[in-house]
Parts: sequence; structure tokens; C-alpha cells
Amino acid sequence: MQILISEIKHWMTEAGEMIKTALLANQLTVDTKTDRKDLVTNVDKMTQDYFVKKIVAFDPQARILGEENGQDHLDKWSGRVFIIDPVDGTMNFVLERENFCIMLAVYEEGQGILGFIYDVMKGQLLWGGRDIGVFLNEERVPQPADIPLSEGLLGMNAAMYARNSHNAQIMGDRSMGVRMSGCAGLELMGMVLGRRVGYVSNLAPWDYAAGGVLIEALGMKMSHITGRKLKLDGRERFLAGTPHAYEEMLVLSQQANN
Ligand code: IPD
Ligand code: CA
Ligand code: CA
Ligand code: CA
Repeated sequence: MQILISEIKHWMTEAGEMIKTALLANQLTVDTKTDRKDLVTNVDKMTQDYFVKKIVAFDPQARILGEENGQDHLDKWSGRVFIIDPVDGTMNFVLERENFCIMLAVYEEGQGILGFIYDVMKGQLLWGGRDIGVFLNEERVPQPADIPLSEGLLGMNAAMYARNSHNAQIMGDRSMGVRMSGCAGLELMGMVLGRRVGYVSNLAPWDYAAGGVLIEALGMKMSHITGRKLKLDGRERFLAGTPHAYEEMLVLSQQANN
């Protein structure tokens, strides 16, 4: 496990350097995928290729799920699976040049073992797992307090808030305030660091795999917004929170009619 962790940390920092170099050199080529707001850049694709090469050399038996380059579906979750989001928050990456991250998760036999979220521009690597705890760079992260919804900031997907999906507006109203950062990884990092009481969104597996391992390692909860287990297949309405806030939001979600 120690060798795997130090190997992945090395990949994350090396990929971060490649991304910073491309940004500084203004070497971004931006394309759209499903619509004009669904962006992908040459850097997203290059970063995923970099991880895939490293993973194949390190563990040729492992399966790989990644957002880009046609690797976004897995039929089998047996054995070891690496889940890659090469640039999470691509819109921020293109338009803000910050507030994005690299994410990588390791699953074994369908269970999340390790998660890594790297805020490239801040040089902050959040990593850990159920059996080892969670660290920010080399410092252990304490378990955040189990605060209720009324005492914290709630991360939210803008479209779900605007449409009041699953009573999202009432959830927001009961919290100290709603935040919409455009980066799932940094929202989940915010929960781990005690800056968010929860997160409501519409996410693909690579958006929550790494952060999910980390929040669960610190006793926080996540599921589909209706309370069922996440399927790790396609986009799903996602709910996460401190145990207290999670239960409050689940009740509101189950009372909703849209
Ligand atoms: C997106 C971001 C965003 C979330 C979207 C994701 P991407 O990831 O995490 O915050 O609302 O659902 O798709 O596409 O930039 O990797
Ligand atoms: Ca994307
Ligand atoms: Ca993402
Ligand atoms: Ca991405």
C-alpha cells in the first residue's frame, strides 16, 4: 500500500507541473463535447494519457475508468480499478485558470480504498483512505465536527438549485449559505477540511470517487440524493454531508416532488 501511495503522489505532482507549464505557455486548445458549456482541453486529454501510461506500467492487470479519451465506462469492477478525473472543473481551468483539481481514486473489489485530490494552483494534495486516515500534504486532517445544516456552508450544483430539484432551495435556506464553485473535487475537499457542511450535485463516478473515499474515511456520508447507494455508472444526483446535515437533507429530498 505504501508503494502505491507514494507512486500516486509522484504522478499527481508531476501531472500538476505539466498542467502549470501548459497554462503558463498558453498552450490550451478548447473543444466542446455534448454542448457549448461541456468543455474539454488538450490538457485534460494529455493528463489522462499520462496517468494511464503510469498505471499500465505500474499495474498492468488494473482496470481504468477515466472521463476522457473514450475510457468512461467499465463493465467489471472486480480487482483493482483506478478512476481518473484528469482536470476537474475544466470550465474554471479555462476561464479562471484556478479552482480546478486533479483527482484519482483506487477501488478494490468495488470498494473505495484510496482517494487523491490535488489543488494544482495551491499546491495542496489531499489524500488518504479508510485504513490510513486523511492527510493534507503531510499533515493529518482531523475528523470534522458533525455540525447540522444550519451551521455550515452548503456546496450546490447551480442547475439543481435554480430548479429547486429535491428541495435544493430549502436545503440552501436552512444552511448558512450556498456556494457554487464549479469543481466537485474542491467541494468535497472543503467538506474534509470542515469548510462545507455538505454538497448537492449531479455527478459522474470520476467526480466523486476520490472525494467519496476521503469524506467516508472521516465519518461523513454520501449517497444518491434519494438515499440509495451510488451506482458508479453514469451521472447521478449526489448528496453528501456531515452525518447530521446528511440526514436533514435526505428528509427534505424525500419530501420533494421534483
Ligand atoms: C464538473 C465539475 C462541476 C460539476 C459537474 C462536473 P468536469 O467536472 O466538477 O463542478 O458540477 O457535474 O462534470 O467536467 O469539469 O471534470
Ligand atoms: Ca468534463
Ligand atoms: Ca469532474
Ligand atoms: Ca474532468
